[in-house]
Amino acid sequence: MRFLHNSLGLSSLCSHFLSFLCTSTSKPYQVIHHPALPPSYPLAVRNPYLSAWMPSNRVQQLPYADSQFWAGQELGWAVIVRVEGQAYSLMGVSDLNSSDILPAEVRRAEFTATHSLFDLKAGGIAIRLDFFSPVSPSNYLRQSLPFSYLTVTVTECWGEEVQIYSDIDGRWTGRGNEIMHEFEEYDGLVFHELSVQDAVTYAEEDDMALWGKAILASRPNDFSTVSASAGHQKTVRNRFAEVGALSGPVASVTFAVGYERKEAINYLGDAYTGYYRARYPTTHEALSFFLDDYGEALSESVDFDNEMTSFSTAAAGQKYADILALSTRQAYGGIDLTIPGDSLDTDNVLAFIKELSSDGNANTIDVIMPAFPVYWVLDPNWIRLLLEPLMQYLAADRWTLPYAIHDIGSHYPNATGHDDQKAEPMPIEESGNLLILALAYVQATGDRHWATEYLHIFQKYADYLVENGIDIANQLSSNDAAGPLPNETNLAIKAAIGIKAFGVLSDLDEYSNIADDHGELFFNQGLGTDDAHKMSNDFFSSVRGEYGVPLDHRQDWAKSDWNMWLAATFDPATRDEFIDDLWAFMTNGKHTWPFSDRYVASSAYGNEPGIPILCRARPTVGGHFALLALKGPASFQAFSSNVSQSDQTLRSKGVEL
Ligand SMILES: *[C@@H]1O[C@H](CO)[C@@H](O)[C@H](O)[C@H]1NC(C)=O
Ligand SMILES: *[C@@H]1O[C@H](CO)[C@@H](O)[C@H](O)[C@H]1NC(C)=O
Ligand SMILES: *[C@@H]1O[C@H](CO)[C@@H](O)[C@H](O)[C@H]1NC(C)=O
Ligand SMILES: *[C@@H]1O[C@H](CO)[C@@H](O)[C@H](O)[C@H]1NC(C)=O
Repeated sequence: MRFLHNSLGLSSLCSHFLSFLCTSTSKPYQVIHHPALPPSYPLAVRNPYLSAWMPSNRVQQLPYADSQFWAGQELGWAVIVRVEGQAYSLMGVSDLNSSDILPAEVRRAEFTATHSLFDLKAGGIAIRLDFFSPVSPSNYLRQSLPFSYLTVTVTECWGEEVQIYSDIDGRWTGRGNEIMHEFEEYDGLVFHELSVQDAVTYAEEDDMALWGKAILASRPNDFSTVSASAGHQKTVRNRFAEVGALSGPVASVTFAVGYERKEAINYLGDAYTGYYRARYPTTHEALSFFLDDYGEALSESVDFDNEMTSFSTAAAGQKYADILALSTRQAYGGIDLTIPGDSLDTDNVLAFIKELSSDGNANTIDVIMPAFPVYWVLDPNWIRLLLEPLMQYLAADRWTLPYAIHDIGSHYPNATGHDDQKAEPMPIEESGNLLILALAYVQATGDRHWATEYLHIFQKYADYLVENGIDIANQLSSNDAAGPLPNETNLAIKAAIGIKAFGVLSDLDEYSNIADDHGELFFNQGLGTDDAHKMSNDFFSSVRGEYGVPLDHRQDWAKSDWNMWLAATFDPATRDEFIDDLWAFMTNGKHTWPFSDRYVASSAYGNEPGIPILCRARPTVGGHFALLALKGPASFQAFSSNVSQSDQTLRSKGVEL
């Protein structure tokens, strides 16, 4: 191991040799974005600490462009190709002008639910960069691995010698300098680790993990070798530009990029680690499996992406499909799937979710609640996996207030509870959310055992809602940035639904009856439910700003998750207005953050509409799936199996697919 003081960061080099037939065309080209222009392309987005993005305004200049951590820090990630002795940058070489490396030409950029693809031309060959972050919620092993794939493929060429290089730099560790690096090699798997010396376990810097290690890895296939070296970026890249590295021909090369933390989460003082460690307890075993799994993960993702497009287009059109494609990796990219670090017991799986960009809280109930449509649609077990860390803590009687706790820790990854009873107070919001989520889980999975175990806790919060659910005190609701309000209708309705949820969970009719009385009071003695529904359709059209409907009359900003929840309750015309507005915000080219769930929707208060505020990369975009949630729990699986059944029917009729 070598310690370097290096303000430029370190580079590893993995070089593969390719030989193919290539055609050459060259004319200046404006990049095409497909299916739409996103604010930022997800590159490697798998958990709160592995979240690399490419702002879309950099794509035209991709050969020069740094990528970005979700919070905005620059990350060095270069991809260089050497064609017949001439090196071309495909991505991430900012000082190209003072090197022997030429820029490749970017032609096209595309995102699907799990891939971001960039097509470039360099020295007469066509190359595709495929950044692939699997989303596979029912496959805990695949989902928990803290790595993403980058596959570089020569898509079109004639008889050139091609070599491919990639590096990441020290900024991936949260520190640009005082970085340690290490090379390891196992049976041809070569990987390079970057880490911060003497880092404090569980410590962050500006949301980046200081502990753990950034990793770049590759492995030769039948036709290639991998070579690696470290040093000052410029030296290593120039060495590649001048001499390259030699071996046999291949058509594509796959790298793994990742960020691994052996101690992933501090749960009440115990270290929890990635689920995958039960089977692959060392980094090289995990990387080796990850690269072995590429073929299956890729084929699963191709079906997933296609079916997600069909399912969401059928639900609400192409724009809705675009919104979901950009939301999918981000929705799961705020989560770690873990097991206890000592026992590695896979019967004790806990999921942790970070409240990215607002305050970093762990397992905030009013983050799980808005995001829950995506779990409901893709795999409802995740509702329990995310609530379980809270329930174990509540069951231990360490939270003594009469209403549900807000989160399991003030700052991720320290899920250490609030023994001082000082979690952010959202009494009705969180009590209602917890009961609604618990019932949703039971209804989706049929697993009553889990809820029965915690029924006495749920009852305490149901009683709180009975006591406090009509004359609503001055309380915060989910959007704390908007401040508290007394008499919030929203909270009164949440309390009524929460009480009803408990009545159904417990079969205690007295709770259901109280909830029905609340409903009667709020709706039937006022407007009547049908009239309220009709009134909402008209009302929301009347308060629509340039980019949709603000959260309430006090502000000009909208919440995208809330708006998709609303859209799911409306008639198609109003529903489509909400979708059109969110799509217009997503594609307006005025901003370059990961998908923001909070943005200026109206110029009513003098602010420029269509600009995001504060919130980046939050897993609450899971709420965008609300229109699919109407199709029922695990409806994506149902849709997929319908698709594969109809494929089989077609196949059995001899139709070529
Ligand atoms: C690099 O060269 C190009 C073309 O000559 C020029 O437009 C660009 O500004 C230069 N970039 C830097 C960082 O010097
Ligand atoms: C987590 O707790 C440890 C102390 O146990 C502390 O050193 C670290 O900075 C905390 N991390 C965050 C992100 O607050
Ligand atoms: C809340 O509503 C009650 C009537 O139910 C009213 O007496 C009270 O003044 C309201 N509070 C505020 C702050 O408007
Ligand atoms: C799957 O097919 C069944 C039977 O045709 C249908 O009722 C159901 O709605 C379909 N599910 C989805 C999610 O498309």
